[in-house]
Amino acid sequence: MARSWAVTLGHGRIGVRPLRRRDAPVWERLRADSLAWLQPWEATLPREGGRATSSYWQTASVLLRRARRGEGMPFVSTWDGQMVGQVTVNSISWGSARSASIGYWVARSHAGRGVTPTAVALVCDHLFESVNLHRVDIAIRPENEPSLAVVRKLGFTEVGTAPRYLHIGGEWADHQLFQLVREDVDGRVIDRLASNSAR
Ligand SMILES: CC(C)(COP(=O)(O)OP(=O)(O)OC[C@H]1O[C@@H](n2cnc3c(N)ncnc32)[C@H](O)[C@@H]1OP(=O)(O)O)[C@@H](O)C(=O)NCCC(=O)NCCS
Repeated sequence: MARSWAVTLGHGRIGVRPLRRRDAPVWERLRADSLAWLQPWEATLPREGGRATSSYWQTASVLLRRARRGEGMPFVSTWDGQMVGQVTVNSISWGSARSASIGYWVARSHAGRGVTPTAVALVCDHLFESVNLHRVDIAIRPENEPSLAVVRKLGFTEVGTAPRYLHIGGEWADHQLFQLVREDVDGRVIDRLASNSAR
């Protein structure tokens, strides 16, 4: 399972590759520089005073352990080969579901360049074609316009609203749920992104 996560994918100046232990300094700098930008959308821990998991080591050790177990795939997104954000595949379910959830962020300095939709498209193609998953979902707070733009560009379908779905910014927050199933995609998600963005 670990092998299906050890991939480097690219499209133009944008790419994805697995998160590594040695990403710590860049990860911490990017997140410190973008603190106010990221904080309103950060998942928080309800049983630990509603705080976010802030240190790289806390975050990475959980994500890398899940990756070893086949439960997740933490990728970084890159611009000209340099890390600028993260795309994390969480909650992989095998058996009859063959599904996963995706979460993401990009540094404020690189927002608006299409980094996240392109990185998510590359990851979705990998999940559908190589890992053989059937469904990918993304949960977004209704007020997060930039993130809603990402799923719109990728052609995800809205499934509905889940009340008090996730603990974000210190409270249980409603989310809109979006999904993409393999049959929705005729060809590759990365090609679909190009045609949706051109509209
Ligand atoms: C949501 C997010 C990942 C989008 O990533 P991105 O790589 O900037 O995605 P895009 O380049 O496609 O831009 C998406 C939207 O951001 C907005 N945007 C564009 N340029 C921007 C800039 N310079 N600064 C801020 N927002 C900008 C636009 O609304 C754009 O949509 P449009 O292209 O239809 O106009 C990013 O905004 C982010 O990290 N936000 C904070 C964390 C977060 O919300 N994570 C997701 C939780 S569900």
